[in-house]
Amino acid sequence: MIPDRKISFAVIGCGYIGKRHINFIKDNPACELIGICDIRSQSELGIDDISVPFFENIDQLLAMDFDVACIATPNGIHALEAINAIRSGHHVLIEKPMALTKQDCEQIISEARLYKKHVFGVLQNRFSPSSRWLKNIIDQKKLGKIFFVSINCFWNRDERYYNRSAWHGTKELDGGTLFSQFSHFIDSLLWIFGDVKNIQARIRNLNHNYLADFDDSGNVSFDFVNGGMGVLNFSTATWKQNLESSITVIGEKGTVKISGQYMDKIAVCDIENYMLPELPASHNNSNNHSYIFENIADVLKHGAEKAVQPLESLKAVELIEEIYKLGR
Ligand SMILES: NC(=O)c1ccc[n+]([C@@H]2O[C@H](COP(=O)([O-])OP(=O)(O)OC[C@H]3O[C@@H](n4cnc5c(N)ncnc54)[C@H](O)[C@@H]3O)[C@@H](O)[C@H]2O)c1
Repeated sequence: MIPDRKISFAVIGCGYIGKRHINFIKDNPACELIGICDIRSQSELGIDDISVPFFENIDQLLAMDFDVACIATPNGIHALEAINAIRSGHHVLIEKPMALTKQDCEQIISEARLYKKHVFGVLQNRFSPSSRWLKNIIDQKKLGKIFFVSINCFWNRDERYYNRSAWHGTKELDGGTLFSQFSHFIDSLLWIFGDVKNIQARIRNLNHNYLADFDDSGNVSFDFVNGGMGVLNFSTATWKQNLESSITVIGEKGTVKISGQYMDKIAVCDIENYMLPELPASHNNSNNHSYIFENIADVLKHGAEKAVQPLESLKAVELIEEIYKLGR
């Protein structure tokens, strides 16, 4: 444990989300940024003002002495870079998805065990007050038996998105819509309701043939190991803008629906003998990242429990892999 000094971080991949990591590290008094790395130059990235050492080569960065490497590169290279970082003696924080195959996730986790390093995951929707509330009432069985759960994710991802970065839409680096857009919802499903079985899936590319190597839409049905059934409907073919993200739960003693792009609104709460408590103000999704850095500092400084266990990140990847295998 490291009780008496700041936790030192380096960020690998300084694009859209890596820049946020940089800011959250700088904003957290228990954390310090000691280096950054990207294959693009600092001026191309628009981060000339960041004064810590910048490397275009990951090996040079990994030779530095620091605690945690944040992997914020395209999905398809998370595993390679995380394993490099672990073998160089660093804990890792890996953006979602942990990797694009269960096998790669297993390798990351086994290398971390071998080198006695932590693997942290970024599934920040877990910190939204409404997600935490839903998890609590399900854990406390306020709804009685769970009969049916419906998750709907209808987003827009058109040429404006796919033209922004060359890796988006590629099979090798992006992996698919469930990896890039909807892995948070796959995680919510497993985190809140537990494992699923009897999975059936239909996956289609309805309107992205010229933009992506893979699906844009699908429907998945399953049974919960704990009882009840569910569906996940998803699409990035929604015209012009995001339309819906929601989880509806039909239980023996009530009905609940949470919604909002980041699962940050309680749309319906109708439960026998239950009054909805006042929840803390909702952060938006990007601010929920700050909790991830707070948790890393707590784990490394005081031995707190990890907010996202590595095996949970693996399970989300495993389920996505299974859905794609069944759906094609
Ligand atoms: N947690 C969330 O809500 C959330 C949101 C968006 C993206 N993400 C994840 O964050 C990751 C990055 O996504 P993004 O939107 O920031 O993409 P991006 O394209 O904006 O940034 C990726 C950066 O990685 C750099 N890069 C590519 N290969 C590299 C290498 N070998 N070494 C070092 N740098 C390299 C690129 O030059 C680019 O600057 C992805 O895994 C994505 O799924 C998570």
